[in-house]
Amino acid sequence: MKLKIITDPNPILRQPTKEVVNFDMELQNLIDNMVETMRKNQGVGLAAPQVENDKKIVVLEHDVEVDNEETLYKPFPLTIVCNPIIKSKSTKKVKMVEGCLSFPGIFTVIKRPKDVVIEGQDRYGKKIEIDVEKFQSRVLQHEIDHLNSTLLSDHMREMDIVFFGTGDFAVYALEYLNNDPQYIIKKVFTNSKKSKVRGKNVDNNQVKQFAKKHNINVKEVDDINSEESVTMLKTIKPEFGVVVDFGQIIKKEVIEIPKLGILNVHPSLLPKHRGPTPIQNTILSDDKNAGVSIIKIDEGVDSGPILAQNEFKLKDSHNFEILSDYLSKLGASLLIDILPYYIAGEIKPEAQNEKDASYSKLIIKEDGRVGFDTKGEEVHRKVLALNPWPGVFVEIDGKRIKITATHLDEENKLVIERVKPEGKSEMNYEDYLRGDKNELTFRE
Ligand code: CO
Repeated sequence: MKLKIITDPNPILRQPTKEVVNFDMELQNLIDNMVETMRKNQGVGLAAPQVENDKKIVVLEHDVEVDNEETLYKPFPLTIVCNPIIKSKSTKKVKMVEGCLSFPGIFTVIKRPKDVVIEGQDRYGKKIEIDVEKFQSRVLQHEIDHLNSTLLSDHMREMDIVFFGTGDFAVYALEYLNNDPQYIIKKVFTNSKKSKVRGKNVDNNQVKQFAKKHNINVKEVDDINSEESVTMLKTIKPEFGVVVDFGQIIKKEVIEIPKLGILNVHPSLLPKHRGPTPIQNTILSDDKNAGVSIIKIDEGVDSGPILAQNEFKLKDSHNFEILSDYLSKLGASLLIDILPYYIAGEIKPEAQNEKDASYSKLIIKEDGRVGFDTKGEEVHRKVLALNPWPGVFVEIDGKRIKITATHLDEENKLVIERVKPEGKSEMNYEDYLRGDKNELTFRE
């Protein structure tokens, strides 16, 4: 029977545990249920308090990285220990990333003795001694912690970090970092430039608003490389920084302040589409795949070594807004997933292949212009990539007609869905034609 796993916070996880005395049928049932529960949750170990039982019992998989057959006790395909105690441990300690079924989604780096010798009893009460190393030693120590009311969070080391972000694309990364208890965001640096909406300066900086809402210290800066910013960063002494859609070039002096460098979430499969408009460029280039990269920044433009990438097939329904939102979430979760491994030194950043590099450039209003000699497919890609800004338009008799929604039919021919003639509101293409207008036809 699969049992319910207690998740933190819950006082049950902190209750003292009792010695197993009766090795009876009830105990055998409990152990079988614990094994089933562990396996159905894809765990590698489980302790009794996690299934709301106060006995000193741990179960763990033992065929993960077993390479010391002589010393390993394995009468079953599993290791089951009742009343375990750590008899001795190596003085050598190692760092490893750990998770826990009682802390879903949380992974953290923990330093523990490399090898341990455990004394206890098997499921029938027979005395056993287990000499384990590597992964198994790790899991056993973690499970014995549970019997002593020690949890993953007690081992968690809080790290001071800083975040640099301005655009909406940065918000998920900031949110995910803020939700993870091991990262303390000491300061968010954001671009102080306000965006212009219809000629007026409007402050719609979502990064700043998120920070304020969650009581994170936020600082608007014109120049992150200024003496003031550098001094501020040196005072914070961040272990690492994260930069997402910041809008300013970060120079060497700043890059070198955090011990583990500054990581960047970039919405393209680097080295493709470096520069300011990777998402639009991915769509305009008619790429087969889109994706995100996590890099450790250097002084160049998106040229730093790659820590991780995640890619997926680009679909015809992926316009800029959909793709941007999706990549933003994907990038944020990839960042959170790899961070503990990067901190533990298990990920070695890999240099980008300069030969394959391509660059996106800033988009200007004129990029949205199409003529009747433009290919229909290209018009469609532009409609996907360049809405809501700058939009796509044709000019007839000095008046602009914006094309706001299109698709390609089965023969790859352009079908216009919606338009917005100059000075009028957006309308269905059929309604536009009913106004005695000529069809907008493009090259096939
Ligand atoms: Co656990």
